[in-house]
Amino acid sequence: MSETALNVIPRTAVVKRAARIGAEIRNIKLSGDLPDQTIAAIKGLLLEHKVIFFRDQVHLDDAEHERFAIRFGKPMLSPTLDPAKGTMSILEIDHPRGGFRTDTWHIDFAYLDAYPKILVLRGAVIPPVGGDTVWSNTAAAYLDLPAPLQRLADDLWAVHSNAYDFAVFARPTEAEKKIYDEALSRASFETEHPVVRVHPETGERTLVLGLYVKGFVDLPKYDGQKLFDLFESHITAPENTVRWNWKQGDVAIWDNRATMHYAVRDYGDQPRVVRRVAIDGEVPVGVDGRRSVVRTKIIKPPPAASSTS
Ligand SMILES: [Fe+2]
Repeated sequence: MSETALNVIPRTAVVKRAARIGAEIRNIKLSGDLPDQTIAAIKGLLLEHKVIFFRDQVHLDDAEHERFAIRFGKPMLSPTLDPAKGTMSILEIDHPRGGFRTDTWHIDFAYLDAYPKILVLRGAVIPPVGGDTVWSNTAAAYLDLPAPLQRLADDLWAVHSNAYDFAVFARPTEAEKKIYDEALSRASFETEHPVVRVHPETGERTLVLGLYVKGFVDLPKYDGQKLFDLFESHITAPENTVRWNWKQGDVAIWDNRATMHYAVRDYGDQPRVVRRVAIDGEVPVGVDGRRSVVRTKIIKPPPAASSTS
């Protein structure tokens, strides 16, 4: 962290929560009115630790949450949600009451070319036990790869799609199938990303994989599946992760360009509501300088009011 940032957020207020990723930042009350230098210091800590946590931010409501989040960039609306549901950039994630499941390793919106760079997530309703989120460090995972596998990853490209493969979940419910089918009927995306992207701010090489990968470019499905499993095993190794036990009012901010995450689904039908703002990102660039390529981008207009009544 730079000297300037240290003056704003002292080292004693930064508590690492795992060896390779994740730090809790203490003694800051988040708001849209924080001075520029505090926002710059938070950004520096985010780049360093990949995911940062703030306890006791119960004063935040949706509006203030959004005002704070947009200090990091332009908010992104979810492309698969019905725009008639409002223009707030806040997305509520509440699986037991009909939301998307997020108990898979993924990068948020990785099926888009310029997927979000930063996510700001707030714990609104947290079950007494369970419902943790786990993040992994995709830059450390790349560094962990033996040199021949790094070179292989450097050359590979993968197709990411929002078309849902229910084979990844055991026993999907009819309600879950309906949610995903509806989202897919509104929008369909396919993007080719390099498996290794160069982080635009730190220059680190990070792995771009996860749930939305449909296959690798120029590789047969079964060869691709084995390679996918191999790279994913490095990304999700326990040594490479941090697990956050939520309390109501916590805020987690992660760098979506250098992490993957997984929401542990061990709370049955108890309510768990988290609310999230996504900040627009850059189109990834591979180690050879090539940028991600959109294959499909179809967003259908919402149905006319007369036909839905
Ligand atoms: Fe997510």
